[in-house]
Amino acid sequence: MAPRRWTAPPSDAISRLTMSDLSLTILAETSNDAHAIERLHERTFGPGRFVLSAYRLREHVDHLLDLSFTAWIGTLLVGSVRQLPICIGDTPALLLGPLTVEPPFGGRGVGRALLDRSLRDAKAKGHRLVILVGDAPYYSRVGFKAVPKGRAIMPGPVDYSRLLVAELVEGAFTDVSGDIRPDWSKAR
Ligand SMILES: CC(C)(COP(=O)(O)OP(=O)(O)OC[C@H]1O[C@@H](n2cnc3c(N)ncnc32)[C@H](O)[C@@H]1OP(=O)(O)O)[C@@H](O)C(=O)NCCC(=O)NCCS
Repeated sequence: MAPRRWTAPPSDAISRLTMSDLSLTILAETSNDAHAIERLHERTFGPGRFVLSAYRLREHVDHLLDLSFTAWIGTLLVGSVRQLPICIGDTPALLLGPLTVEPPFGGRGVGRALLDRSLRDAKAKGHRLVILVGDAPYYSRVGFKAVPKGRAIMPGPVDYSRLLVAELVEGAFTDVSGDIRPDWSKAR
C-alpha cells in the first residue's frame, strides 16, 4: 500500500470558513479575561489607545462585567466588547467600547454577535441609551445614529461625526444633552 501523503489545505481554507462552521460562544466577561482582552486591545489599537477621549471616561469607572462580553471559538478569545456607566448631563447611559475582533476572525459576524448581545442585555437590564465613538456605517446596522452637533460633549478631543447614540427605548435621547462624564455613583 502506498504511504499516505499529507496534503496541505488550500491557502484560502481559513477565509472560506464561516461562522456556521465555527461554533461561536458569547459570554459575559469575567475578571479572568482581563489579561487576554488587554493583549487584544494592544494588538488592535496599539499604544495610541490611551489618548482617546473614551479612555478618559474609563480611567474613573470600571466597565460593567455583566454588560461586557467576550466571543470564543473553543478556548480561543476572538473578540470583546465592553460597556461602562456614564452620564450625558444628568441622564444615565452606557458607553460602548472598545469593540474588538481578532483580525483573522473579522468579517464573520463576531462583531455583530457581540453588539447584538450587548444591546439586548443592556435593554433587558433597564438601560435606555448607549453612546460610542465609532464608524457610523458599521454601527448604524444596529441602530446607532450620529449625535446632533453640540448635544453631548466628550471630555477631550473627538471627531464629533463619529459620536453615535442608540436609543434602547424609543425617544430616550429626545431631551438629553450635556457633558459626557463618568457616572460618579459607580466610581472606583
Ligand atoms: C470593527 C470590527 C469590530 C468589526 O468586527 P467584525 O467581526 O469584522 O464585523 P462583522 O463580521 O460583524 O461585520 C462585518 C461587516 O461590517 C463591515 N464593516 C466592518 N468594519 C466596518 C467599518 N469600520 N465601517 C463600515 N463597515 C464595516 C464589513 O465590511 C462587513 O460588511 P458585510 O457584512 O456587508 O460583508 C473589527 O473589524 C475590529 O475589531 N476592528 C478594529 C477595532 C475597531 O476599529 N473597533 C471599533 C471601534 S471601537
